[in-house]
Amino acid sequence: MGRIIGIVQVKGGAGRSTLATNLAAALSMEAPTALIDADVPQGTSVSWGVLRERAGRMGQLTVTGAADHRILVSKARELVATHSYVIIDGPPRLAEVIRVILIMSRLCLIPMGASAAEIWATSDLVRTIAEARNRRLDVNACIVWNRFRGYTRSARELGEAAEQELGLPALQSKLGYRVAYSEAMARGLSVAEWPDKQAQVEFAELVAEIKEQLKVQG
Ligand SMILES: Nc1ncnc2c1ncn2[C@@H]1O[C@H](COP(=O)(O)OP(=O)(O)OP(=O)(O)O)[C@@H](O)[C@H]1O
Ligand SMILES: [Mg+2]
Repeated sequence: MGRIIGIVQVKGGAGRSTLATNLAAALSMEAPTALIDADVPQGTSVSWGVLRERAGRMGQLTVTGAADHRILVSKARELVATHSYVIIDGPPRLAEVIRVILIMSRLCLIPMGASAAEIWATSDLVRTIAEARNRRLDVNACIVWNRFRGYTRSARELGEAAEQELGLPALQSKLGYRVAYSEAMARGLSVAEWPDKQAQVEFAELVAEIKEQLKVQG
């Protein structure tokens, strides 16, 4: 039985598909991994999967789409029986799909940029997480700071304020603003396969921290 990792955020463009595709590529190097794109018809992760397939890099990775929450539940149940990790790329709106992801996942990651607009937009999601906790006490959701400019004081301060305001923990590892993320995604690759050492290192650290989180969860 594998672990389900949901990527949720109601703010569009926050980095869900970037996180989902890179995480799926990284974990599939170690164990059978499935990536379910629940943001259809947009289908960024599915499109990335098609390019990855053409590049002959699928290895132990399965990529599929789910058009609604019922299909998502049945595909996730089926895939988690045969894959060590199932990653779900969620839609940018509050919908039944998000609720299902929160309930099914062992760990939910919320990519977020350190800007006031993104933090405000996330407060609706925080309410949905609280509701999901009425159905499953141990819903585990963490912020992943994306496009983070750690060297600016405002980003750091915003980050700390957001963690307090939203009442959500954040992972230690953060993703910087790097062209490597968009360039790699456009080719069906991950940043581990793109010549940007800093991106490679920061993403590897994030993967290690996520695996640690899954262990802590038992
Ligand atoms: N850390 C980053 N550095 C540079 N570009 C990034 C970074 N994260 C995401 N991007 C780029 O920003 C755009 C939006 O990211 P992404 O598609 O991952 O977000 P999303 O939350 O899935 O958006 P959507 O609402 O469109 O599904 C993409 O072009 C992506 O390549
Ligand atoms: Mg997306």
